[in-house]
Amino acid sequence: MPRSPDSRTLAELKGAVGAGGWLEEPADVAPYLTDLRRLYHGATPLVLQPNAAEQVARILAICHRDRVAVVPSGGNTGYCGGATPDESGTQVVLSMRRMNRVRRIDAADYSLVIEAGATLAEARAAAERADRLFPLSLGSEGTAQIGGNLSTNAGGTAVLRYGMMRDLVLGLEVVLADGRTLDALKSLRKDNTGYDVKSLFIGAEGTLGVITAACLKLFPRPADAATALVGLASPREALELLGRLRTAAGDQISTFEIMPRIAVELTVRHVQGVANPLDMGSAWFLLVELTSPNARARLTELLTRELEEAAMNGTIGDAMIAASLAQSQAMWKLRESVPEAQRRHGASLKHDVSVPVSAIPRLIEEGTALAQRLVPGGEVIGYGHLGDGNLHFNVSQRPGADAEEFLRHGKVLEPAVFDLVERLGGSISAEHGIGRLKVQELAHRADPVELAVMRALKRTLDPHGILNPGKILTTGE
Ligand code: MLT
Ligand code: ZN
Repeated sequence: MPRSPDSRTLAELKGAVGAGGWLEEPADVAPYLTDLRRLYHGATPLVLQPNAAEQVARILAICHRDRVAVVPSGGNTGYCGGATPDESGTQVVLSMRRMNRVRRIDAADYSLVIEAGATLAEARAAAERADRLFPLSLGSEGTAQIGGNLSTNAGGTAVLRYGMMRDLVLGLEVVLADGRTLDALKSLRKDNTGYDVKSLFIGAEGTLGVITAACLKLFPRPADAATALVGLASPREALELLGRLRTAAGDQISTFEIMPRIAVELTVRHVQGVANPLDMGSAWFLLVELTSPNARARLTELLTRELEEAAMNGTIGDAMIAASLAQSQAMWKLRESVPEAQRRHGASLKHDVSVPVSAIPRLIEEGTALAQRLVPGGEVIGYGHLGDGNLHFNVSQRPGADAEEFLRHGKVLEPAVFDLVERLGGSISAEHGIGRLKVQELAHRADPVELAVMRALKRTLDPHGILNPGKILTTGE
């Protein structure tokens, strides 16, 4: 079990990063003590800001020797409290922000080696400078860091086409709990040399090692794109449209996002500069995007034809295809502002769940009936990545309702939603991870054999339990 660091250990940790590499004043460490959703309020004696993998190695060697807990921290955009220290005041925070260099970019090899503290936007910009695409796409890309994206196996709005963060990794550099460095930064597409060790650290939320750099997969940059906003009656029609577009456009569909009318209304109301170009009469809205590296792919023609046919046979209501980059950006802003609008609207119960794509309509219908029964006065806002089966089944309080009283309903609603998700063959965490928020749920619901393997890995790679204790797995096991 980790212990409280004494003054000698703290001094040695400061020495490992040197002047300008650590923070300890309450005002300076405050931003590291609360998660984005303000669910957790922790404490720490020290925030370390290493600027090289060697410094991370030194820090972990000291913490391993002295049994000090370390909480890796990225852009703090996570939803599950995975990067927040606990309330004990004994856990040291390891901020990766100063490790944000592009180490290598190879356009011919379609690969980018970048450090963990670079933001997703910085990674995307580096790829773009080499006329390449790094396709992970999240609303928080300006703040979220590559290390956090890897540690939570982030998803976002292009998973349908490019997969999750795990699918975008060729190699990793990871510092292990005892300070040894695993150098697996190769850019190979094929490498069958035993266990895929690097894979263990993706989605591990800093509990098995600290990722310091990654070799990421790049793709050709889109040269043609068509973006549309579509109004329609229900998720069933949305699935019909997805089927039609898959046949017509294959894997040129990169985004297929769904929002209920209330999400659009809240976004327009609460977020400045957001407008809905369509009639508010539709019950549901879709953001659809096709992209191709071929400038002559004629995607606008293709999308126009498919949407016209879908409108003619009654699958969709009105639709608008962006006629300019500005219009496309406005449509994206509408979708990406939904979480912020929901935050401004008041407290919400969030469920980041996935089911087989074909089960999304049932999830929405049965989940809504559950919420209406169990959370009187709640408003269901189920939106997200229909194309890959990931729905953010959120329930918001109505304006004026007492937030604390509203949130208490989560104790009844959450297990009911998760039971439904399990009945539909889904997952209780699609893309946000487990963090601290879902530790008990995972312990309770995961397959016992899978859980035993996870615990065995944790014991082997972090025998003193110093790495992000209390995240993913319960402590003391
Ligand atoms: C999104 O898709 O907008 C994010 O995952 C955030 C959310 O759950 O609200
Ligand atoms: Zn999402």
